[in-house]
Amino acid sequence: MYAIPADREQPVQEMFSAIARRYDLNNTLLSFGLHHLWKEHAVREARVPVGGRAADLCAGTCDIAALLARRMGPHGHVDALDLNQEMLDVGAEKLRRAGLATQVNVTRGNMESLPFESNRYDAATVGFGVRNVVRRQQAFAEMVRILKPGGRAVCLEFSRPVNPLWRQTYEFYNFSILPRIGSRVARDTTRVYEYLPASIAQFPAQEDLAQMMRDSGFSRVHYVNLCGGIVALHVGVK
Ligand SMILES: C[S@@+](CC[C@H](N)C(=O)[O-])C[C@H]1O[C@@H](n2cnc3c(N)ncnc32)[C@H](O)[C@@H]1O
Repeated sequence: MYAIPADREQPVQEMFSAIARRYDLNNTLLSFGLHHLWKEHAVREARVPVGGRAADLCAGTCDIAALLARRMGPHGHVDALDLNQEMLDVGAEKLRRAGLATQVNVTRGNMESLPFESNRYDAATVGFGVRNVVRRQQAFAEMVRILKPGGRAVCLEFSRPVNPLWRQTYEFYNFSILPRIGSRVARDTTRVYEYLPASIAQFPAQEDLAQMMRDSGFSRVHYVNLCGGIVALHVGVK
């Protein structure tokens, strides 16, 4: 299995830079298009008000930011933040083509130390990002800080399938099939599609992640399993 270095920030960033232009295509292929449904579900759970303000963290190519912007309408505002400039460049271009560039402000930055004001956001989302963050509890604490009291945080992330047979099938796909297709489509040499299943295997399971969110300051933390637990959607309230 791919050995994840303790300080994974730089190698992980090199991987995202290398695949940024093919990231969306691979997401759709490797999830059989399901990532769109998962992201829509996450944005529904964020319950953003019309004309509200939301932050999408680890925004990557800005799919979730775009969904949030559509939901909040022309008077809404989204701050989309990611460490990786190449991913944000692809996202900014998509937002421009969708006519959403004025509603979404794209910022390069680290989720562990957000350049945003406290108590300002109705919702904060993070999709398939926390797994890559080094100091996760600090990142969740930052989400708490920027939310208004009563604001909602939504974390969408790969998790643990509940049924053992489903889990075995999923792990076979993840470790044996996904890296081959992913690397070929992305013409990748950085081993990002080997890092992906390894990082999923090492990521906290549903209840452990819920506890981490509680320890970071969230209340009313709960989660729903999607696709039998391949993905989990955690919600916390400030
Ligand atoms: C798998 S992509 C997810 C992108 C997008 N949210 C989606 O669901 O398609 C993970 C993203 O997290 C970003 N990332 C990793 N660590 C980060 C950090 N500490 N702060 C901000 N972004 C980070 C990476 O640069 C990458 O763009």
